[in-house]
Formats: sequence, structure tokens, C-alpha cells
Amino acid sequence: MANVRSVAIVCGDGIGKEVIPVARDVLCLLHPEYELFPVEVGYERWERTGEAMGDDDFALLKSADAILFGAITTPSVPDYRSVLLRIRKDLDLFANVRPVKGDGFDITIVRENIEGLYSGIEEVGVDRATTLRLLTRHECERIARFACNLAGNRTLTIGHKANVMKSDVFFRDICLHEASVAGVNCNDRLIDALCLDVLLHPASYHVIVTTNMFGDILSDVAAYLVGGLGMLPSANIGEHHAFFEPVHGSAPDIAGRNVANPVAALRSAALLLRHAGDIPGSDAIECAIQTVFSRGIKTRDLGGSVGTKEFGDAILYELGLAGA
Ligand code: NAD
Ligand code: IPM
Ligand code: MN
Repeated sequence: MANVRSVAIVCGDGIGKEVIPVARDVLCLLHPEYELFPVEVGYERWERTGEAMGDDDFALLKSADAILFGAITTPSVPDYRSVLLRIRKDLDLFANVRPVKGDGFDITIVRENIEGLYSGIEEVGVDRATTLRLLTRHECERIARFACNLAGNRTLTIGHKANVMKSDVFFRDICLHEASVAGVNCNDRLIDALCLDVLLHPASYHVIVTTNMFGDILSDVAAYLVGGLGMLPSANIGEHHAFFEPVHGSAPDIAGRNVANPVAALRSAALLLRHAGDIPGSDAIECAIQTVFSRGIKTRDLGGSVGTKEFGDAILYELGLAGA
């Protein structure tokens, strides 16, 4: 649990500008004492200023007790370094936690968040391009312990590709060792088979720990279980900082039309409150989402016809009724 007083609000690009205001209004309602301050980073800032994030912006993010982030568009230019990846690395947000909950299943994907194929150690030549898949013992142990702690008396599943990559033999064995030290019930599966089995038998999984890129892919796959990318939140957790964002991106195909589903952003705010120790506030957001759904109020991706803003208004109304 962290003491939260100041929250940096980053809308970012595309639908980030539509879904984050919905989540921000809910934080304002539940915690009027929070100091919420906007920070502009992303593609549009890059287009305007030639810089996606300034040192001042990064310092502001660093100063906040928590960060609520929308999504940013990655420009397709060579040498562009993803702002999101820089923030994760420079704030040492080593664990990316992605809960996927539905009828009869409760899965948490724990993704190693700063190494693996995201090491940034790359070389592009004329005839050859390489990306180094770096896994250090320190990060493998840290993410394995984090996942074991989260699993408690539930089962931990390790997702890997140890049949092909020695680096994943290393990762799997460290995770198995940490689980045995922690007394956590643990099994392991090859990541490709795991991607399908999670969809076929979601109730068989509790906590899944995996490397960076596999976790990225697995979480988008698992979104299928709960109605798509508009539904899944995430928490990027470090020892000193915490950063909350939807799993989805900036969705340029639907941006600016008030059709994006703000549930992933709302659930990210709920994870922020859980991190701040406000479990009732966090539960109230989830409860409001369920009540609004039960009235048939849904965005287009879920088969409804309600706009982003109108969905947000319905949530605020429910939370108001619940006495928030
Ligand atoms: P995306 O997640 O933005 O969209 C994938 C599909 O899901 C699209 O059809 C989109 O319309 C739909 N979708 C996503 N969120 C939705 C929502 N809330 N409601 C309804 N539909 C939703 O992925 P993409 O299209 O592959 O990437 C677009 C851009 O976003 C790229 O530049 C990518 O790099 C970036 N991206 C950023 C983040 C981030 O900042 N956290 C995450 C993923 C992708
Ligand atoms: C995510 C995104 C990011 C990732 C991109 C935008 C760098 O897809 O948060 O899932 O690959 O981690
Ligand atoms: Mn992703």
C-alpha cells in the first residue's frame, strides 16, 4: 500500500484523450483531496515539438505518487525510442500486472517489464538485424518473487519457450526455484500452447508469470475472454513508483469519435486506488461498471450504442447514488 496524494494524469494520444478524462473524473469524485495534474507526452507532442517527452515532463511523472496513463501512438520513424518503454525502465517499473477476470475465472498475468526482447540492445545492418533478448538473474528473481507473492496459495503458471531458447530455460528454472522456496504451487507451459489453453480453460489459471514480449501478446489474447481490449487494465509496479494504464493502445481507427470503451481506463483507476489502499473505492468502481452493464449501457465494441462520455456519466451517476 502506498501513500497517494498526487497523481499525474497522462491522456497521451488517440482514444487516450477520451478514456482518461472519464477515469480522471471518477478519481476526482472519489478522492477530491488528490492533487491531479496533467502531463503531456506522446506522438502529438512529438509532432509539435520534436520531442515526445521532455526532461521536465519526466521529472513531473517521477514526482507523482502515482501515474494514470492513457496510450500513446508510436511514430514509424527510425531511431524513435518509445516513451512508454523509457518510463517503465527509468522508473524501474519491473512488474506489469494485468488482471483478467470474468465469470468463473480470475487470472493475473505478471509480465516482466523491462528486459527480454525489450532490452533496446539492437543492431540493424544492411544484411542483418539483431535484438538481444536479455534476461538477468536479478530481474528473473525479482519478477518470480513478485508473482509468487501475488499467487499465495493459488497456482503459479510459468509461460516460456524453453524448448527453443536457452534464455527461457534460465527464466523457467529461476521461477521454479523461487516458487519452491516460497512454497507456491507451480507448473509451467510452453507459451504458444498456453495462449490457446487460457482461452479454452481459463478457470485452470490463477497467476501466470512470463517474459516481457510473451506477456504483451498473452494479455491481448486473454482480452478475448472478457470482451476485448476495451476491458483490460494494467498496473506497472516498481519499488518506488506505480503507473496505471489500459492494456490497449491509442486505437487510431476509432479515435475522436466518442466510441471507445472507457472500462479499461476505469479499471486502471480502480487498480490505482487498490494500490493506494482504498479497497472500497476500487470495488465501488467495479461495482458501478457491473451495474451500468446490467442496465444495458455499453459501448459499441460490446454490442451497445452508448458513447464514451455517456458511459462515463452513467458511472459517475452510479457512484453518486452509492454515496461516493
Ligand atoms: P490498439 O490497442 O490501439 O487497438 C487494437 C484494436 O482494438 C483496434 O481495432 C481498436 O479500435 C480496438 N480498441 C482498443 N482499445 C479500445 C477501446 N478502449 N474501445 C474499443 N475498441 C478498442 O492497438 P494497435 O492498433 O495495434 O496500436 C495503435 C497504436 O497504439 C500504435 O501506435 C501502438 O504502438 C500504440 N500502442 C500503445 C500502447 C500504450 O501506449 N500503452 C499500447 C498498445 C499499442
Ligand atoms: C503494451 C503495449 C506496449 C508494449 C507498446 C506500446 C510499447 O503494447 O503496453 O501492451 O509492447 O509493452
Ligand atoms: Mn501490448
